[in-house]
Amino acid sequence: MAIDKALLKDLAERRARVAAGGGLAKLEERRSKGIMTARDRVEALFEPDSFQEFGAHVTHHAHDFGLSGKYLPADAVVTGVGYVGGRPVAVFSQDFTVAGGSLGKMHAQKICNLMEYAMQSGMPIIGVNDSGGARIQEGVDSLSGYGQVFHHNVQASGLVPQISVIAGPCAGGAAYSPALMDFLIMIRGQANMFITGPDVIRAVTGQQCTMDEVGSADTHGAVSGNIHFIAENDEHAIQIAQELLSFLPSNNLDDPPHRPGSKISMSADPGMDELVPETSKDPLDVLKVIERLVDDGHLFEVQRDWAKNIIIGFARIEGIVVGIIANQPMVKAGTLDIDASDKSARFVRFCNAFNIPLVTLVDVPGFLPGVQQERGGIIRHGAKMLFAYAAATVPKITLILRKAYGGAYLAMCSKDMGADMVFAWPSAEIAVMGAEGAANILFRKEIKEAADPVARAAEMVAEYRSRFATPWQAAENNMITDVIEPSMSRPTIALALRNTLSKRETRPPKKHGNIPL
Ligand code: HXC
Repeated sequence: MAIDKALLKDLAERRARVAAGGGLAKLEERRSKGIMTARDRVEALFEPDSFQEFGAHVTHHAHDFGLSGKYLPADAVVTGVGYVGGRPVAVFSQDFTVAGGSLGKMHAQKICNLMEYAMQSGMPIIGVNDSGGARIQEGVDSLSGYGQVFHHNVQASGLVPQISVIAGPCAGGAAYSPALMDFLIMIRGQANMFITGPDVIRAVTGQQCTMDEVGSADTHGAVSGNIHFIAENDEHAIQIAQELLSFLPSNNLDDPPHRPGSKISMSADPGMDELVPETSKDPLDVLKVIERLVDDGHLFEVQRDWAKNIIIGFARIEGIVVGIIANQPMVKAGTLDIDASDKSARFVRFCNAFNIPLVTLVDVPGFLPGVQQERGGIIRHGAKMLFAYAAATVPKITLILRKAYGGAYLAMCSKDMGADMVFAWPSAEIAVMGAEGAANILFRKEIKEAADPVARAAEMVAEYRSRFATPWQAAENNMITDVIEPSMSRPTIALALRNTLSKRETRPPKKHGNIPL
């Protein structure tokens, strides 16, 4: 008694046809250009022999426009589960060699089934986009398929992390699936993403533009803020996804992969004291502060090229995974503007959804003044930061390095806005507004009438600064937990994280708040 050999032969042949995608010649053509195939990407992402494929034999049911009777291997998308860092991750990877990776009814069904599986089992989703968009031959079935994918993206949001790799074309409405996910990685020179490309823009508006201007990784990484990471090639994109996953929990009920040691090192770091410039006018490079604060000096920076006046990213402090949000005084003096507000608010929301403690570093002179900012809605955008921080229930630790003025001080997670612990360096300037502005308002008449108005103004600024632009009024009013030497920042924050890690904060049940969008 044994299984009929012909059945096994048939199975092997079917498997080989699936593995060949759009044909061995097409696969080789891509590889010769240094571009991975859909299956190469899956293999590179996962630990060896850990991938289990779902629906390999699914194929389309269209009967029109030349696709009739045509077999589309895996219906142009490889789906399944494999292991990254010892944890299961769900992947779908579009196969451009099969009908241009286009999305039809069965293609969409495979993606949706995978997402349902990932949500039920509590594992992250990675989607590799490489597609000509809706499969034109399938008509509204394709449109409906996109609708279902978007719906599943939204259901998965906040339940499991979703990462999108844009590895090829991602055009029109198709771009909304990645946009609904948490992190987008885009490959420079190989991928493009747009709602309407140069041809449509020219036809409708008469505006001339290039694909690079509207759809390249550099445009989305530095100008539109639509993506989070730029990769140089497929391998690099996969490395970024793997490193990103190393900071994230598998789902919203899990803790992130903390690696605490048994004891926190309480030794001081004199190098941190030396980083503080002598006058508050000289900018402090906050990246140097972060480097000394986090384990191995390693910040996994997110959206590095966009809204550079604020830094966001993941790191570990004495093994505890944290999300870092820091003003960068080297760019636009560290002011908060529309883009910086959007960037940081969304990051805070992600960290809160996935139990990642927040460490906020403050050196902010205020919101960026300007007609464009006001007319662009800085009130609405800045409010996102206030909302995101106040709504977050994860541990929130704030360290005030230097300037912390006005509404921007509140927006950077002050105690009143819900920080669990706030520390300040002695160089902190916590005040309702900057010294120059305050002196001008309070003593305008006196300055004007003085024999030497310039000298008098300087005196009043100095007087205001010494009385108000310090950490001491805030400390006396219980607005900060402690004033610390810069050299003690790392041990202080490490202790604060350990002490707040078991925090449980419940809020009255409601459908959801109404964040200003
Ligand atoms: C069916 C498609 C397809 C599609 C490409 N192909 N896009 N088949 N539906 N949407 C097929 C091609 O016919 C070709 O088949 C193969 O894929 C490779 O395509 P090429 O054009 O030869 O490749 P390339 O020169 O690299 O150009 C890639 C491309 C181009 C830029 C993506 O194919 C293109 O512009 N496609 C159409 C893009 C588009 O307009 N999509 C929007 C659809 S409507 P053969 O058999 O010759 O190899 C839409 C709305 C969705 O997406 C809304 C959702 C909310």
